[in-house]
Amino acid sequence: MEKKIAVIKGDGIGPEIVTEAVKALDAAAEKFGHKFEYTQLLMGGCSIDVNGVPLTEETIAACKASDAVLMGSIGGDTTTSPWYKLPADKRPEAGLLGIRKALGLFANLRPCLLYPQLSEACPLKKEIADKGFDMLIMRELTGGLYFGQRKTETVDGLETAVDTLIYNENEIRRIAIKAFEVARKRRCSVISVDKANVLDSSRLWRKIVNEVSADYPDVELKHMLVDNAAMQLVRDPAQFDVMVTENMFGDILSDEASMITGSIGMLPSASLNETKFGLYEPSGGSAPDIAGQNKANPIAAILSAAMLLRYSFDMTEEADAVENAVRQTLDEGYRTGDIMSEGCTLVSCSEMGTLIAQRV
Ligand code: IPM
Ligand code: MG
Repeated sequence: MEKKIAVIKGDGIGPEIVTEAVKALDAAAEKFGHKFEYTQLLMGGCSIDVNGVPLTEETIAACKASDAVLMGSIGGDTTTSPWYKLPADKRPEAGLLGIRKALGLFANLRPCLLYPQLSEACPLKKEIADKGFDMLIMRELTGGLYFGQRKTETVDGLETAVDTLIYNENEIRRIAIKAFEVARKRRCSVISVDKANVLDSSRLWRKIVNEVSADYPDVELKHMLVDNAAMQLVRDPAQFDVMVTENMFGDILSDEASMITGSIGMLPSASLNETKFGLYEPSGGSAPDIAGQNKANPIAAILSAAMLLRYSFDMTEEADAVENAVRQTLDEGYRTGDIMSEGCTLVSCSEMGTLIAQRV
């Protein structure tokens, strides 16, 4: 098959880890006889430096003209980088939110699983880690607090800021459907996370998720309050199969979930719309502190490339080959610094990428 892939390397460790993900894609293309054509695009801080804005119409159009988008990470050090002297809508993150919205990527899939090889790197108690876990966080990505109206103004002489958490029933319904659909391909269990004891938006969320669940009698549904979910993630992560939640809760809980896998450098993500099109990026950030040092863990980016093959190209065997190559490389004891443990071999970002590509 011939496929067009838009590549947004971005800022910080983005260029390093995406280079390694492309190695894995090329290895899969060679092994299975495909042709992938890459278009390099700017977004985030690097786009601000060149174009004065974090996201251009050209980048959006080029993404739309591709079959899928592979992304690294965007943004810099928020206290020192000049990008953060710009107004909020001109900063790197505005580019990421803009592209999610422009491409209609409402469903963000963040699979978190504990590789047995990394149980040493898991910060949980041994008896919890030994049970293992394999969950998928389905985060709503184009609504809620991130896209509601916001403003800062003076009210009664006091500087006052407001952000709006807004959802309509359609936005909730379509993400709930995605959650139930993927649950069917997994262990048939959905836990919907909300704050229905306080928020109206959560009460509507719960009502619509219950309605959707009627069409999926084979999938078990439970509701969980977000504060409890934060606790359950470290107390008993094995209870989660598919967790579906709104944008902000998903942002926070997915960082927490990533940490119990050993490192945020292990966590891929797929952001999908109603079609096969998607944007694939590691769940972690741009890690400006280690950028350019060839130290970053490229595995999240490589696993994101595997998700791209699976979800956008329907290349199941190819995706399996990439994921198995990651497992094999870990089995053989290779580790980047973030997941290093005694007796293993410390490798750089590019070495890890080459080792994995060789095993595809
Ligand atoms: C993520 C990131 C982004 C988000 C930031 C960079 C805007 O934290 O993808 O989780 O909050 O969605
Ligand atoms: Mg986040």
